[in-house]
Amino acid sequence: MTGDDKLSAQGNSMSRRQFLHRAGMTAAGAGLMAAASRHRVRAGTGRYRTVLIGSGWWGMNILRDALASGECQAVALCDVDQRHLNEAVDEVEDLTGDRPAAYTDYREMLEQEHPDIAIVGTPDHWHCLNTIDAVKAGAHVFVEKPVGHTIKEGRAMVNVAREADRVVQVGTHRRASPHNMSAMEFLREGNAGRIGMVRSFVHYHGGPESPQPNEEPPDELDWDMWCGPAPLRPFNSRIHPRGFRNFMDYANGQLGDWGIHWMDQILWWTDENYPKRVSSTGGRLIRGEPVLNEDEQTSDGPDTQVATFEFEDFVATWEHRQYAGNDAENHNIGCYFYGTEGTLHLGWLDGWTFYPSDPNAEEIHEEPTLHTNDHHNIPELWDDFMESIKNGRKPICDIELGHYSTNMSLLGMLSLNVGRSLEWDGENEEVIDDPEANALLSREYRGDWEYPEV
Ligand SMILES: NC(=O)c1ccc[n+]([C@@H]2O[C@H](COP(=O)([O-])OP(=O)(O)OC[C@H]3O[C@@H](n4cnc5c(N)ncnc54)[C@H](O)[C@@H]3O)[C@@H](O)[C@H]2O)c1
Repeated sequence: MTGDDKLSAQGNSMSRRQFLHRAGMTAAGAGLMAAASRHRVRAGTGRYRTVLIGSGWWGMNILRDALASGECQAVALCDVDQRHLNEAVDEVEDLTGDRPAAYTDYREMLEQEHPDIAIVGTPDHWHCLNTIDAVKAGAHVFVEKPVGHTIKEGRAMVNVAREADRVVQVGTHRRASPHNMSAMEFLREGNAGRIGMVRSFVHYHGGPESPQPNEEPPDELDWDMWCGPAPLRPFNSRIHPRGFRNFMDYANGQLGDWGIHWMDQILWWTDENYPKRVSSTGGRLIRGEPVLNEDEQTSDGPDTQVATFEFEDFVATWEHRQYAGNDAENHNIGCYFYGTEGTLHLGWLDGWTFYPSDPNAEEIHEEPTLHTNDHHNIPELWDDFMESIKNGRKPICDIELGHYSTNMSLLGMLSLNVGRSLEWDGENEEVIDDPEANALLSREYRGDWEYPEV
């Protein structure tokens, strides 16, 4: 079932539900809605010199909305894969009439172009160095989630942003999404009662995995630079483009990819910055032992995972599996908030739904307001980013908030890796009495790349 099919199926079952009207939304919510629906001026006429590092799928989604805001001019793009780079440069020229400069080394681009704004749309293992270098070059940064690959990278990014007094916004656009905002308001007003448990999850199609032969990297791709500070695996088209999510050298699996969006929603709701204890189990129960040799490889991320995060007043869980993707459980992506007055499911394409505990009360439902392509709320988040730059205020997805949400995912992965639960000292950002786990809060970078100082 595609996303659109899913929406219409959801719509058919709505007749016994009460649809929420937007009249009760906050002023902030109404402002963001207005930003989403307003007519946008011709792309590319703006005054902010904007560069993009990583012109793949999501980087270009962000750049398109930056240009559509009418405030930004794409002066240069950078990608280590010239196929992506050329396509992106052509598209920007088509959209704006101006051809941006093309670079394959982001450091050279930062030095030559002196951007006001840098968008970071590279794979996760690059986010930290790209962001720190861009901030040090004087740019405000819109960086994709998760903010880093290891926990100390995120803290280093926060420190650099503060020292340089630059705005660093993280791409967790669900904080700017109208239905997520109204769901938070609904919960904060106490409509679900006291919440003792939150369950977040993503269940996708998938199944067993066979190794795929390694290949010579394509001529247009600088594979060594793609791997950068991370280990240099043999090239395999299962990793690039977009497949890096399931390779732990470059990312942190489903919990680091989808999970961070829901971790972020949980922290947004609770206003707490970190859990006190984290434990996780799972593995490659269906995909099998990872394979990596000079001839072939598989991914190495877990296909099955359950993580538990203990807070002062509630327990949060994460679950994913990459098989048995079906409608058996009604919702297969999102977060359930379980309260004394009922359960709120906060989803994506299916908006949010409140299932009251009182059998005589009606369900309450709100549809999402999402943008093409790919059903997101980047325009609202981009507008907030611009307002933050102009007014010198923190953005709604400030780097420190993104760091805390990323930490939830990375701590879940850390617990799975060391095979035990972790007592987290969130104030000092260290695991209590666990030197082995603490050593994994950072990692050795490859070659001459230097891990940032914290
Ligand atoms: N916020 C969201 O909802 C959302 C959605 C999708 C992806 N993302 C994030 O966006 C990021 C990119 O994911 P994607 O799916 O677009 O991947 P992708 O493979 O399509 O794009 C990444 C691009 O970065 C390039 N790249 C790699 N190293 C580089 C370097 N050193 N300099 C310049 N370019 C480099 C790659 O060649 C590729 O073109 C990920 O961190 C992902 O988590 C966020």
